[in-house]
Amino acid sequence: MSAGGEYNPKLLGIICNWCCYGGADLCGVSRLQYPPHIRLIRVMCSARVDLAHIFRAFSHGLDGVFIGGCHLNDCHYITNGNFNALGMVKICKKLLERTGINPARLRLEWVSAGEGIRFANIMNDFAPAIRKLGPLGSSEGMDEKTLLFKLQTASKLIPFIKLVERERLRAPLKLRACSEPEKEYNKFFNSEEMNKLFDDTIADKLVINQITSLLRDGPLATGEISEALSLGPSEVSRQLKVSSRHGFVRYDAGLNRFMAV
Ligand code: FES
Repeated sequence: MSAGGEYNPKLLGIICNWCCYGGADLCGVSRLQYPPHIRLIRVMCSARVDLAHIFRAFSHGLDGVFIGGCHLNDCHYITNGNFNALGMVKICKKLLERTGINPARLRLEWVSAGEGIRFANIMNDFAPAIRKLGPLGSSEGMDEKTLLFKLQTASKLIPFIKLVERERLRAPLKLRACSEPEKEYNKFFNSEEMNKLFDDTIADKLVINQITSLLRDGPLATGEISEALSLGPSEVSRQLKVSSRHGFVRYDAGLNRFMAV
């Protein structure tokens, strides 16, 4: 809260050294104003930002995360790291959404070292947008305990997501050479095929992770799991069936409840 009692969101900016940091510096030198409650961390390239960093930031109570890099094809490394950042953010937004967190809390922008005004404009847009959403969890309808539980179960999945991403969720290299690569990335990551692939490989595993984590605290009936996860009973039954088949959970007829194995 500010001194005037106004809610100020807790914001983190992770920005690349070579461009966005220069833009932020120019913004400061030019005495352009932007909300003071964003903390900036400098990394050498936007590609350095990992899914785990974003989930850790949200788990530590940040309300919004901003990632800033060089404009596409202007990355200072031959691997064109900002394309990796773009793909990672697309996947992270899907994961946030499936976790029940508004993906608008994560924002990626390209800012060159000469774009101090652009940096200030982005910050002056991002901070009010997050303020409007309110503290993390409030616009998502989750209390602190549920929020932490969902973030932790999603975080545990990150090593697996990275493996799948390497094999199946990575945008083809040829998209980088298109005249409008960002548009092509949007098309690729928002395609029906990609959404299905993501749901089949990641989202289902996320729900199974949540169910097995809940069951580790004690046996539960389908209805209780459904209530705890705000999921339909039919979806919970489907996931329980899959989990039983894989040996993650078992049904105890005496208790009339499922248990973690
Ligand atoms: Fe800026 Fe790679 S060096 S995004």
